[in-house]
Amino acid sequence: MAEPSIHLRIVPPADFGAAAGRLVADLLRENPAALVGLPTGNTPIPVYEYLLAQQRAGALDLSRMRAVMLDEYLGADDSPMSFHHWLQRRFLGPAGIGPDRLLRIPSQPEGIEAACADFEARLAAWGGCDLQLLGLGLTGHIGFNEPGSAADSHTRVVRLSAITREANEEYWQGEEVPAYGVTTGIATLLQARRLVLLVNGERKAAILRRTLEGPIGPDVPATFLRQGRDVWVIADQPAAALLGAGAPHA
Ligand code: PGA
Repeated sequence: MAEPSIHLRIVPPADFGAAAGRLVADLLRENPAALVGLPTGNTPIPVYEYLLAQQRAGALDLSRMRAVMLDEYLGADDSPMSFHHWLQRRFLGPAGIGPDRLLRIPSQPEGIEAACADFEARLAAWGGCDLQLLGLGLTGHIGFNEPGSAADSHTRVVRLSAITREANEEYWQGEEVPAYGVTTGIATLLQARRLVLLVNGERKAAILRRTLEGPIGPDVPATFLRQGRDVWVIADQPAAALLGAGAPHA
């Protein structure tokens, strides 16, 4: 099973968004200007919907919350297919989080290395990430830290795996998925004061098992989360179905 430092919460699928969303809501009630790291993808949608519903109900104030982007496609800029646009539509816009409260990860190919270093410096200047939400890729990636990503990696350009590009085809509506992404590095992520890995659905069961029970290393970058200081895994029952069944195969 999971390391003692990991808080594993297994919930029915219908409770997934609220279970993870409550961690964010509790933080914001304590610190309304908290800096929260936001992923894209199908997984966080119920979490964003929970937070927006809480705000509409008057139970949560998002008016001071700050956000930092986890990853982006290289060269995406202002494309409607960019993660920035997705986040804008799904959460930032409805939540009323304007550009002054968003730390955007760079995506312009020219000068990208310097821009990544600048992003890290700004993240530190903003006080560091209070809570980082993460999805889990079928490859074991977190952000775009694909297999091979080192524990000491920082924000950088990465080549996307074939599996990841295929998983992202649905967003590109027939256009070619970019070959490269920009991602917050593993070392950068581990500096977050709290990390919350979100995992739902049966198709993530095998990779969640490897993440929590397999050897820690770059073959499954998400295993590095087990070295984080305050790590939560919110899994729905189908995603957790294979946990505790003995050592997983590599
Ligand atoms: P998904 O993507 O939430 O769409 O499954 C997760 C990821 O690849 O990080």
